[in-house]
Amino acid sequence: MKPNNLKTIITICSAFVSLSAAAFSVDEVNPDSLFAPFKMLYSLSKSAETENFAVSEYVKTCISTTEDALKKCVPVFLKLIGEPNSPITEDDPYTMESGYSFPPHMVVQGPLLQLCSKIKPIVFDIGPGSGNDSLMALFAGARQVIAVDIHEKQLAACKARVSGILEGCVELSKFVTVKRDFSVAGKVPTQYVGKIQVINANKVLHFLDESETTTFLANAHSMLEDGGHLFVTVSMPTQAHETAGVVYYSKTTVIQNRQIKSQTFTAISKEDSGLISPRFKREVVRQSGNMAKVIMYQGRHFHTLETLQTYLSPLFEIVDSTTINCGVGNEFLSVIARKVSAVR
Ligand SMILES: C[S@@+](CC[C@H](N)C(=O)[O-])C[C@H]1O[C@@H](n2cnc3c(N)ncnc32)[C@H](O)[C@@H]1O
Repeated sequence: MKPNNLKTIITICSAFVSLSAAAFSVDEVNPDSLFAPFKMLYSLSKSAETENFAVSEYVKTCISTTEDALKKCVPVFLKLIGEPNSPITEDDPYTMESGYSFPPHMVVQGPLLQLCSKIKPIVFDIGPGSGNDSLMALFAGARQVIAVDIHEKQLAACKARVSGILEGCVELSKFVTVKRDFSVAGKVPTQYVGKIQVINANKVLHFLDESETTTFLANAHSMLEDGGHLFVTVSMPTQAHETAGVVYYSKTTVIQNRQIKSQTFTAISKEDSGLISPRFKREVVRQSGNMAKVIMYQGRHFHTLETLQTYLSPLFEIVDSTTINCGVGNEFLSVIARKVSAVR
């Protein structure tokens, strides 16, 4: 390693250790600082990250576990961070739409890990995808993680993957899966009502329409104990859909001789989409000779801090928020909110 690189790394580490020490005490510290140290570390560490260094230091700093567990889980985290998106296995892939599972992102997961490390909570990971956040929460010290998903098949895949990685490191009984559509009223797992300290809903709310979003958040509120925390990450408006709210669109793909010739997106009304919520999709295929036209009807609910705040209030107060840019059309808003106990 070149001396200059080493110097950078040492600087980054010292910066992180001091930032980290100052950054997290959920109750005492200026709430504005929850994301800030991770954003700073992220931008500071770009060069060192390519050598997988800053990331491993970040993981080590966050997790409170045995040396043996550390040896096993740091390489796991590094691997997760480098993995590509993987499609969600929908129970009915022709009518349901759930997007992809994403690799962890330091700025989004940092505060979640630190909270897990500090208070050893019971965590609800709603919409866990392939389980990256559940894994990180458990490695960080969560007492238990309950992964709740609408798709049985995805939950089974998530359980198998998470158990395989946890084996020998964290007790497998700490990871529980529950199949639920969390956007409907009166269907929450009642044994956990009021008993959860942390709820994580990473890239889930943009599949819900207005009333489903309201119900989802009311359900989340009922599951949390007083003062419990809600972590939400959600899609922001894109270049194609510049305003927040629920949008529906059609994606038309023209295929000739089994090769894609063109792809166009058109904004359409909800009625024209034939969908009742962005949780669904509809595909129409028209074929003539060696030409096929595939029209996929989909929807998304894009949020800004203002629109999300309208849904969160008065059940939750926002503690901190940040935006994450993962490339054009992939901008996310991440919010940490605290349950407001007595809603009058
Ligand atoms: C885009 S994926 C995100 C996965 C993961 N949290 C991540 O950040 O990579 C959305 C996840 O939410 C789940 N989901 C969507 N709607 C849901 C609902 N109403 N109730 C529970 N889970 C839902 C999907 O099955 C999927 O696992």
